[in-house]
Formats: sequence, structure tokens, C-alpha cells
Amino acid sequence: MRLARIAGTGHFLPERIVTNKDLEKVMDTSDEWIQERTGIKERRFVEPGTGSTDLGFEAAKAALDEAGWGPEDLDFIIFATLSPDMYFPGDGCFLQNLLGVDDIGALDIRNQCTGFVYSLSIADAYIRMGMYDRILVVGSEVHSTAMSMTTEGRDTAVLFGDGAGAACIEVTDGSEGSQFLWHRLHSNGAFAEDLCMPAPTPKRKPWISKEMLDEGLFFPQMNGREVFRNAVTKFPEVIKEVLETQSLTLDDLKLVIPHQANERITEGVRKRVGGPPERVFSNIAKYGNTTAASIPIALSEVVKSGMIERGDLICTVAFGSGFTWGANLFHY
Ligand code: ACO
Repeated sequence: MRLARIAGTGHFLPERIVTNKDLEKVMDTSDEWIQERTGIKERRFVEPGTGSTDLGFEAAKAALDEAGWGPEDLDFIIFATLSPDMYFPGDGCFLQNLLGVDDIGALDIRNQCTGFVYSLSIADAYIRMGMYDRILVVGSEVHSTAMSMTTEGRDTAVLFGDGAGAACIEVTDGSEGSQFLWHRLHSNGAFAEDLCMPAPTPKRKPWISKEMLDEGLFFPQMNGREVFRNAVTKFPEVIKEVLETQSLTLDDLKLVIPHQANERITEGVRKRVGGPPERVFSNIAKYGNTTAASIPIALSEVVKSGMIERGDLICTVAFGSGFTWGANLFHY
């Protein structure tokens, strides 16, 4: 039987550390406010000229190394980002070129915070159906250059950071006890405008204008309370849902790796998941919210630190703009 598993993981963070104290210098905020509301202490920002493809390239090389693959072993690339280098074409094509691989397919996924969760489900499906044997999945974001670093933009500017993570997914027959089990994916577009970046938009003519800039439509707009209210419900709901598809329970899980949205949201997930607090992973204090990159960065960190071993039951789970939410269940 054709199944898929994670063969290697990698991550890459820009060197520049930006602390909450650094943000205090450019906007009316405080380390205390940020830590209390979000759990974030610092995040990484790129230097000008570095894009999400560049970060994704570094993470991809690390994942390929861990898998013991060269770029020539790849059959396909899936790239999840909400901050592509260009409106089009997608980062996947730029990455394909940087990797110097033959003309393999590259698919960009625009599912924001749930981008990596959706991407893993696609990689698993392609492999199960026999279309490909080895797929590179990348989540990468550069937020720092696209946020309003002012008091006006402080509600979102303090939350986000830059970074990238990647995973190599390969075909397996499951005999090693390492495989994807199932995925659950959801969306509810009724909440689309509660977390969005409205411009540029071909719905308006011209699609880019000074008025849009003045209105701040090029910056993320967030109804923080609505996001919080939905996230704390949907995270635990979809974890249970994906477990039920395999007749498993929360007690069977070694680790939950949630999208690193906000420590208070992760705390809410911890309460509902139960068990020791370390069963729900968190690294948001160091990197902030890196949207599609947060799960692959976390996954790579837990592999490298020895927190998980082959065969452990893991759930990666995300909630974000759309609203979209979903979970992957796998034996690492
Ligand atoms: N520093 C200082 N004060 C701030 C900041 C800031 N960075 N941002 C907002 N404030 C002020 C507000 O202006 C407001 O002031 P006022 O009372 O004088 O009007 C006050 O703080 C309280 O604002 P609220 O929006 O009511 O603050 P709240 O307690 O709801 O916390 C937060 C805001 C942290 C965004 C919260 O709503 C939340 O956690 N929401 C979840 C959103 C989230 O985590 N998004 C992550 C991205 S989406 C994702 O990944 C799923």
C-alpha cells in the first residue's frame, strides 16, 4: 500500500532579533503589554532585499540534508506563503529555479496560517495516488516589511515575524510505523474580512491607488477578538475530529504542534487537550507568529531537539485567515 511520511525537516530564521523593547522605540507599546497578551518576547526580521523565497530556499536545503536527498531527487514542490516575493508568479517557481532542479511542478498554496497543514494533505494525497514519490513542502514568510510599524498598526505589528520551515515527504509502505494517517480541513468565508489584507485588489479600478495607501489597506486588518474567540474553539475541535477518524484519543498523542498564533490561544488549546503542558508545543516567545512557517519551524525544532522520535503520534493543527483551520495526524 502506498503511504507517505516525513523524511526530513529543516528551518531557517533571519539573524536579526527584534525585541519588544525595540518595538517600543517606534510605536506606543510595551514589553509588558505584548508579553501578557501574546507571549511574544522577540521575533526575527530580514534585512531589506531578502524575500520569502530566499528564506524558504535555506529551509529547503536543511530539510533536503536531513532527508539525505539532493534537489535532483525531488518530484514536486509545494510552497505555502501569504507573503510571496511577487503577486505572481508564485514562490514555488522561484524556489524551483534556485534549487537548480529540472522542470518539476511547483504549486503555491495561499491558505495563510493553515498553509502548511493544507500543503501536507496535498503532498500525502499526491503520494498515495502514485503521482509522485518525493515532495518538498515549504512554509515561508516575510512579514516585517509589510506591516505598519507605527502606533496605528501596533495591534498586528507586534504579532508577526519572519522565518521559514520545510519538510521532505516520501513514499513508504508503512512498515516502519512512520506515516501520515489522515487530515481534516475547514474554512468559513463568512469571517474573511476579520483577518485580511484588502489591497491591492482588481475589484477596484485602479487596483492600486494613493487612497488605498492612505486608508492603510495594504496592511493586515484584524478583528483580534473574533480571531481569538474562533481559534480557541476550532483548534481543539479539529484535533479531536482528526483523531476520531482513526479511532484515537487525545491520550494517544505524543505532541500537538499548533500554529504559533498567540500564546494565549495555545494556552486555551492546552486546557482543552489536557495532559502535561509540554504536550502542546510552543516557541512563539522566540519568533512571534510566522503564519505558514510556524508549524514547519516548530516541527524541525522538535525533531532536532529529540523531543519526538520515529513512530510518535503527532498532530499539527492550524487556524487562521479565511477563516481556515485544519489538522494533520501522523506517526513521525
Ligand atoms: N501595545 C499596546 N497597546 C495596544 C497594542 C499594542 N501592541 N495593540 C492594541 N493596544 C491597545 C488598544 O488600542 C486598546 O486600547 P484602548 O483600550 O485605549 O482602546 C487596548 O490595547 C486593548 O485592545 P484590545 O484589542 O481590546 O486588546 P485585547 O485584549 O483584545 O488584545 C489581541 C488584542 C492580543 C490582538 C487579542 O485580541 C488577541 O489575542 N487576538 C487574537 C488575534 C491573534 O492572535 N492573531 C494572530 C494572527 S491570526 C492567527 O495567526 C490565527
